[in-house]
Amino acid sequence: MNLPDRFHALTTLLHAHEPLWKPAPFCFPVLPWESQHPALSQQLRSLDDNNVRQLESDQAALIAWLEPHLPELVHITALTEVAALHATPHSYPDRFEHDIPGRKWQQVTAFAGCIDALDSPVLEWCAGKAHLGRAIHHRFRQAVTSLEWNKALCEDGEHLGQQHHCDVHLQHCDVMSPAADTFVQQHQHAIALHACGDLHRRLLQLTAQHGNTLHLSPCCYHLTSNDRYLPLSQTAQRSGLSLQRDDLRLAVQETVTAPGSVARLRELKSAYRLGFDLLQRQLRQQDHYLPVPSMADADFQQGFRHFCRVAADLKRLPLPEQVDWEHWEALGEQRHTEVSRLELPRHAFRRALELWLVLDYALFLEENGYRIRLGTFCDRSLTPRNLLLTATRQGTDLSQ
Ligand SMILES: C[S@@+](CC[C@H](N)C(=O)[O-])C[C@H]1O[C@@H](n2cnc3c(N)ncnc32)[C@H](O)[C@@H]1O
Repeated sequence: MNLPDRFHALTTLLHAHEPLWKPAPFCFPVLPWESQHPALSQQLRSLDDNNVRQLESDQAALIAWLEPHLPELVHITALTEVAALHATPHSYPDRFEHDIPGRKWQQVTAFAGCIDALDSPVLEWCAGKAHLGRAIHHRFRQAVTSLEWNKALCEDGEHLGQQHHCDVHLQHCDVMSPAADTFVQQHQHAIALHACGDLHRRLLQLTAQHGNTLHLSPCCYHLTSNDRYLPLSQTAQRSGLSLQRDDLRLAVQETVTAPGSVARLRELKSAYRLGFDLLQRQLRQQDHYLPVPSMADADFQQGFRHFCRVAADLKRLPLPEQVDWEHWEALGEQRHTEVSRLELPRHAFRRALELWLVLDYALFLEENGYRIRLGTFCDRSLTPRNLLLTATRQGTDLSQ
């Protein structure tokens, strides 16, 4: 299926199921779709913990479980399938990966291995310590300029480049500033591993202006200064699918299966947040979800009462002298049990939404004269953000 056909089919599927994936269950005591799908709601609520864990971690099993209730889901697997890119192994010197967390190094080498040819200078976008830049330099022997706005990361990256004798140089630069434009040039390969929302969308726009080659693995689509998603391609602008910033979060909700202790902390955080939410609804006499910003792990590890005090401070919500903490904590746990089940239908649409966004990028570049290659650069167990979009201006030699 070509890119526009796949994009249109995904638009139709996402449109038709908006009531199922748009409302986030933690905001609503009863979800609007439950009255339309009472059997689905009832069966979800009666799943045991093992079933929930299995359906959370196995997309194919989840789709199969949902299909009797939502028959159109039969198409979602084929529509969201993305083939693995061909990878060329490369051997790096001993200790080249020293100082790089294991999972990050595997992502970096997988990304670098999926680039076929590269014989012009490289621009690395949102580089961190330029781990990808060094790997690309080692494989293709091209000079790399790496843009990063965190000064300490720039210094560490520069030092690592010298240590490994790589022609990789960090530039302290905010990629959203006009100064970043001057770094993007036509005869160049721009690379970006896990550049977030607006940051990767700026690179897409500069690429269309300058005609460079692009290798992008996007992440955190929801990190944007706009409340509403502004599609880049004309095709998506005409699609009629309208996304708010919060809708975009769904695209990155899939996480790597975490070790037991991390998974337990995740559950505890959810239960505490939901317990606090029920408490604040009662205190404010308003049946609306109150978003609480992200908080340090330590605030959760010191118990429910401590968490609520910090959350209430952040929201300037006065707490009464007497609160039955055990009661609200138990209600939070109950709500977490319920929410983790009612989230499952939304989860079926995570990859579809992510792919819709990445196809918007691909179509935008196609509309600007680019040839596109889209595939996965690693297994989802290494990172669920495993899509790699390569775009080459038509008429440009693939190696340019
Ligand atoms: C998710 S990390 C990815 C880093 C690196 N590409 C990697 O995969 O290891 C995103 C990086 O973007 C940097 N960043 C965030 N906003 C930026 C901006 N406005 N300009 C330049 N870099 C930015 C962050 O400091 C961080 O190092």
